[in-house]
Amino acid sequence: MSDGLEDVVAAETVLSEVDGQAGRLIIRGRSLDELAGRTRFEEVARLLFDGFFDDLPADFGPALGAARLAVFAEVAALDTGLLDRTPIEAMRALTARLADGDDLEVAFRLLAAPAVFTAAVVRAQAGEAPVRPDPALSHAADILRMTRGRPATRAEAEALDAYLVTVSDHGLNASTFAARVIASTRAGLTSAVLGGISALKGPLHGGAPGPVIDMLDAIGEPANARAWLEAALARGDRLMGFGHRVYRVRDPRADALKRAVGRLSDGSNVRPGRLAFAEAVESAALAILREKKPNRPLDTNVEFYTALLLEALGLPPSTFTCVFAMGRVAGWIAHAREQLAGGRLIRPQSRYVGPLPQVAA
Ligand code: CMC
Repeated sequence: MSDGLEDVVAAETVLSEVDGQAGRLIIRGRSLDELAGRTRFEEVARLLFDGFFDDLPADFGPALGAARLAVFAEVAALDTGLLDRTPIEAMRALTARLADGDDLEVAFRLLAAPAVFTAAVVRAQAGEAPVRPDPALSHAADILRMTRGRPATRAEAEALDAYLVTVSDHGLNASTFAARVIASTRAGLTSAVLGGISALKGPLHGGAPGPVIDMLDAIGEPANARAWLEAALARGDRLMGFGHRVYRVRDPRADALKRAVGRLSDGSNVRPGRLAFAEAVESAALAILREKKPNRPLDTNVEFYTALLLEALGLPPSTFTCVFAMGRVAGWIAHAREQLAGGRLIRPQSRYVGPLPQVAA
């Protein structure tokens, strides 16, 4: 038995490859560097769906725009009970209202759902009316417009595209595995995506970037970094944005996102000195992790620069995991379809280590 299924290969996939030794990510035959910052989310979603649905449109833009409008109707169900929940819980509850199924129309609605619902939830929580989607915009530009209530600049939309593309798929991570298990029962894509959202929500998976901002805010200035980080480790806390199950070197997504933050800095979205401060905290954390955890190579993961990028885009930290879902949903759907096409029911075994009945049968 492998604790946490570490190193266990549980599926064959044509979708993505995570090389943890080389620090390399391949999505459908393209390296992350070929895609991030050069491609729109719509194009990468098409790349992921290719071969798993019949009659895919050449351009996903219009179909995804139409799907944003279609799911917006469900925003009316946002009641005060849901507004007391965290954005990801409220977004998940609205997504659960969508019909289950395995066809392309269901897939497009699910691709749109995390974006439309998260935007409506954060605006409602701030006492503001939801912004109706504009199907003519790119998905990234519309996400920013619907969430912040003002149009995105081209640089901002490109930065969010770089993020959505970077996180669109990543091997058999916990949420994708959850989605594949559910798909293997033939439950439908909506059920698979709801499983994905639920697994992503945890701080060990997609819930880390909000706490990265908390950490940076608590540290405050570079001179405090070492003492703060040492105290956190001494308490037994994990440093958010560091470490990975598969990468034994730096997560290549960290650099893709750091470059995207750098490009945004030119347009003055990033607070002066913020990137340099984050780099100082990152260096201190890596040095301390090397000292305190010599047996485990721990490096920066995707979440550290996710936090900086989404903060620079003016998105509230409470939505960061939802924004992760806006990108990863493309991977969940493609994996669910791949599982459905070729995979058997996923049904492993457990080894019983509990007490035996006292009475002989
Ligand atoms: N800070 C401090 N120590 C750590 C960290 C960390 N971020 N990550 C791992 N370790 C230590 C851990 O304490 C353990 O040490 P020891 O052997 O002395 O007890 C050792 O490294 C191995 O830890 P593990 O929990 O067995 O490793 P894992 O493969 O299960 O953990 C992880 C992977 C991502 C859950 C973990 O690195 C972590 O908790 N990181 C912080 C949360 C985070 O940034 N999550 C986002 C992950 S990237 C997004 C994604 O792709 O899902």
